Amino acid sequence: MTITLSKKVNEAKSYIIENGVQDIEIGLILGSGLGELGEEVENPIAISYSKIPHFPVSTVEGHAGQLVYGTLGGKKVLAMQGRFHFYEGYSLEEVTFPVRVMKALGIHSLIVTNAAGGINTDFTPGELMMITDQINYTGTNPLIGLNDDSMGPRFTDMSHAYDPAYQKIVRSVAKNMAIDLKEGVYIGFSGPTYETPAEIKMVRLFGADAVGMSTVPEVIVAKHAGMRVIGISCITNLAAGMQANLNHKEVVETTQRVKHTFKALVKNILSEI
Ligand code: HPA
Repeated sequence: MTITLSKKVNEAKSYIIENGVQDIEIGLILGSGLGELGEEVENPIAISYSKIPHFPVSTVEGHAGQLVYGTLGGKKVLAMQGRFHFYEGYSLEEVTFPVRVMKALGIHSLIVTNAAGGINTDFTPGELMMITDQINYTGTNPLIGLNDDSMGPRFTDMSHAYDPAYQKIVRSVAKNMAIDLKEGVYIGFSGPTYETPAEIKMVRLFGADAVGMSTVPEVIVAKHAGMRVIGISCITNLAAGMQANLNHKEVVETTQRVKHTFKALVKNILSEI
């Protein structure tokens, strides 16, 4: 007999609670090169993904593959150091499984972060962008299939995918820190290839400002589950056709260059929400 998603979620939740996790308010998903923020969590409890029932195991270099629980910016958080990507071969149910578990643990708000290519010609690598909306360009959707009404509605409203009240707070936090925080629409491709210059030209016309290979499925599931979402992209490079060529090394190098600003911004956001 196949085990239902809600049973899997509950087994994962029980294991995490048994390890001392309680009263969490906010979930954090730390993208490529941005996992170091997890090291600033106070009184941390780290739980390796490989120990959690039904959790996939991440395969990308630069992703630690663990949950870190503790206090950050005065809030009880559960951070994912490393996430699962569709291009790794996981189903979207697997990719978004940790978000389901977060919801089951009582998390009401999620901060998602990622490395992204800048499509907007006003962006420079090393800048941070608050995600104001997203385009699902993966060609699929994590909610396809039977809907479990106890987890969320059949048809999820995506009108406010990134919480408008939180966006105001993020804007004011960045202003107080004198960070030139950009804003824009994130478009998610499946990857793992980077885009072609023609694809980038096309999606610029669609209204996309930044491009990446993650985030979109997790945010869809978070909205299905009724969570409030904040998204921050680190613009690590100019998108295809806007610079000579693309590589993962540059992506990681840029995240290393801006990690201090990124970490301070997220910490201050946590204090204010
Ligand atoms: N495209 C897709 N994903 C990315 C990029 C990009 O240019 N940069 C970082 N992640």
